[in-house]
Amino acid sequence: MEVRDNHWGLLKIGVLASGRGSNLQAILDATLDGRLEAEVAVVISDNPNAYVLERARMNNIPAFAVELGGKPSKQAYEEEIVRVLREHEVGLVCLAGYMRIVTPVMLKAFPNRMINIHPSLLPSFQGLHAQGQALEYGVRFSGCTVHFVDEGVDTGPIIIQAVVPVLQDDTEDTLSARILEQEHRIYVEAVRLYAQGKLTIKGRRVFYE
Ligand code: GAR
Repeated sequence: MEVRDNHWGLLKIGVLASGRGSNLQAILDATLDGRLEAEVAVVISDNPNAYVLERARMNNIPAFAVELGGKPSKQAYEEEIVRVLREHEVGLVCLAGYMRIVTPVMLKAFPNRMINIHPSLLPSFQGLHAQGQALEYGVRFSGCTVHFVDEGVDTGPIIIQAVVPVLQDDTEDTLSARILEQEHRIYVEAVRLYAQGKLTIKGRRVFYE
């Protein structure tokens, strides 16, 4: 199944993030310097104090906090997010350090149009603190993964992975920093392949043209 059907317009990206937003910055920089033919159309955070919102505003990108607290249900919360994404004509949703599990409300609104970056070589070390889990387990290599989002937690079809060595004197911070450099590189690359309509999903496998 080809995953992009709007080849005719510039791809509009909606970014969902909960924290500092360095992956947003990497995508943004690539759209601004011409490496990525796409536009970040909107940034949404579940945390009104997240630095990612500040970064968006500094770049004149519409930025919204949509908080779960105060909404009658998670469904209502996600419906609000979907409304904002649609309002900005988003064709691809990029989760970039978005620390909540996505429900069918968002998945059905953006089928095969939502991707995530995770700081491990999936399917190892799903969920929170993936870099700490890798250190504790004692693996010699970890890395990062960009994948399509499905109903599971960090389980969707894998688009790109990068391998990063784990060093003897690594702490969670040093390993995270080494992985983050690769995240920025592969996230841009995955969005580029998506924007160019080059990705096809067959079962669990993703093929490039
Ligand atoms: C990144 O390391 C990303 O892979 C991770 O959060 C960090 C966000 O950094 N995401 C997850 O752990 C999702 N389960 P950023 O806000 O600087 O982009």
